[in-house]
Amino acid sequence: MKRKSILIVGSLSDIAKSVANKFAEHNYDLLLTARNLENLKLQANDLKSKYNVNVDYYKLDILNIDDHQKLISNLSVIPDIVLCAVGFMGDQKDSENKQISRSEVIRTNFEGPVHLMSEFANLFEKRESGTIIGISSVAGIRGKKSNYIYGSAKSGLTTFLSGLRNRLYEKNVNVITVLPGTVYTKMTLNLKLPKLISSYPDKIAQDIFNGVKSEKNVVYTLAIWKYIMKIINLIPESIFKKTNL
Ligand SMILES: NC(=O)c1ccc[n+]([C@@H]2O[C@H](COP(=O)([O-])OP(=O)(O)OC[C@H]3O[C@@H](n4cnc5c(N)ncnc54)[C@H](OP(=O)(O)O)[C@@H]3O)[C@@H](O)[C@H]2O)c1
Repeated sequence: MKRKSILIVGSLSDIAKSVANKFAEHNYDLLLTARNLENLKLQANDLKSKYNVNVDYYKLDILNIDDHQKLISNLSVIPDIVLCAVGFMGDQKDSENKQISRSEVIRTNFEGPVHLMSEFANLFEKRESGTIIGISSVAGIRGKKSNYIYGSAKSGLTTFLSGLRNRLYEKNVNVITVLPGTVYTKMTLNLKLPKLISSYPDKIAQDIFNGVKSEKNVVYTLAIWKYIMKIINLIPESIFKKTNL
């Protein structure tokens, strides 16, 4: 029987590395993209030797929108699943003050992923099968002063994924929005994360894998973040604006 395959965009992200291991462990063939070809090659060789699955890799900077079609036509196979892990938090102060920094955050978290996932949406719609997974963030649920440029880009991504899910429902294509809370990765290396409600990439990968298997729409990871965000959403704006959450 033909093995299933997953394309992981931004495969050198700490979360994506765990996702790649998780799906390979379950006998999926892997297609990987990242910006750094050397590290990508090392990652592919490592996964190949560990799991004995097919691993193909492709260099992609998601901000080079013109390369998206080229990537798709070079793929060894149109995958069953596409997961986009690309993200960039940037520095909030830089985002407030420098147009170039702000633009990088918005384009990396929103524009690039939206363009790429839209191309796969069109292919999967025609094929009438597939799963599209976007890693967004709980930061996109309510804007706060510490990271609202990143948060608003993720908010746009979450809305995009919701609309896409609605559009593709009748075409047998599942769209999963992953909403991690705080995760120990290189993105958060310089932040002090709340211990009790923070997690590690392996846990996120397990939750994503379970989400695919049970055809979830939205995966909060850790699950407790669903309730935390419900409470945060209940705070009236007149009070929320005075907080330091
Ligand atoms: N860590 C958290 O607490 C947390 C919470 C909520 C959501 N998330 C989301 O989870 C996803 C994975 O993040 P992570 O925590 O695993 O952090 P990470 O290790 O820093 O991963 C981010 C990845 O995005 C890639 N990337 C950035 N700009 C790119 C571009 N222009 N083209 C292609 N790739 C690009 C980076 O590539 P390089 O390796 O080349 O730098 C990196 O591999 C992100 O979407 C992030 O926003 C993370």
